[in-house]
Amino acid sequence: MIVKTEADLEGLKKIGKVVANCLQYMARSIEPGMTTKELDELGGKFLEKHGARSGPMLTYNFPGYNCISLNHEVAHGVPSSQKQILRGDLINIDVSAELDGYYADNGGSFIIPPGKAADQRLLDVTKQALEAAISIVKADAYINMIGYQIEKVATENGYTVIENLGSHGVGRGLHEEPKFIAAYYDKRDKRKLKEGHVITIEPFVSTGARVVDEEPDHWTLVAGREHRTAQFEHTMVVLKDRALIVTIPDPV
Ligand code: CO
Ligand code: CO
Repeated sequence: MIVKTEADLEGLKKIGKVVANCLQYMARSIEPGMTTKELDELGGKFLEKHGARSGPMLTYNFPGYNCISLNHEVAHGVPSSQKQILRGDLINIDVSAELDGYYADNGGSFIIPPGKAADQRLLDVTKQALEAAISIVKADAYINMIGYQIEKVATENGYTVIENLGSHGVGRGLHEEPKFIAAYYDKRDKRKLKEGHVITIEPFVSTGARVVDEEPDHWTLVAGREHRTAQFEHTMVVLKDRALIVTIPDPV
């Protein structure tokens, strides 16, 4: 969507805060031994308490409130009572939801302590890639500079990017124009950001994987078991001279 009114901006900020607080609440609530389904239900209750509805459930009939991906799972992981969260695991939680007709989308990867230094480094670099991409956001910037920045940070640190997962427009729906913003430099992409555009930026940075495949459940996206992949995602409004991030949690 393109933000046109103060009400649009307020609506986005409101749902942005809810999804960001939900993500942090879920991350804080993880106890080793818990299943991803138990964690998902905590998130589902949090959204409900704040009047919000799960974006993937509403939009795609996703079998869960939130996407929770463990270890070699990269994205769209289906919460399951068969999947236990253990010490040392790498987990990605992606919360997107709707409130009053506005959507926001916020994701992050976390390590269940004690983690491996290698996983921590992957998380740090992925965050750096997100920040580098956000730094080029402003009205009239070329959309492909987002991927340029992500790929640059990833490759400089010896990592790869997942090429078939992209960032996207959001706001009145979960996935809107501009669709598929690549995590690599696509020189054929001539699109530009417009003032008021609402987009996500969500790099998936990996220890070697470049593509994800669908599991037999038709939702969970995985890369090879030998690889680890991290993602951090924010929703933002494109302003004249910068990005205004709406998925910032309240301090705890
Ligand atoms: Co997301
Ligand atoms: Co997204």
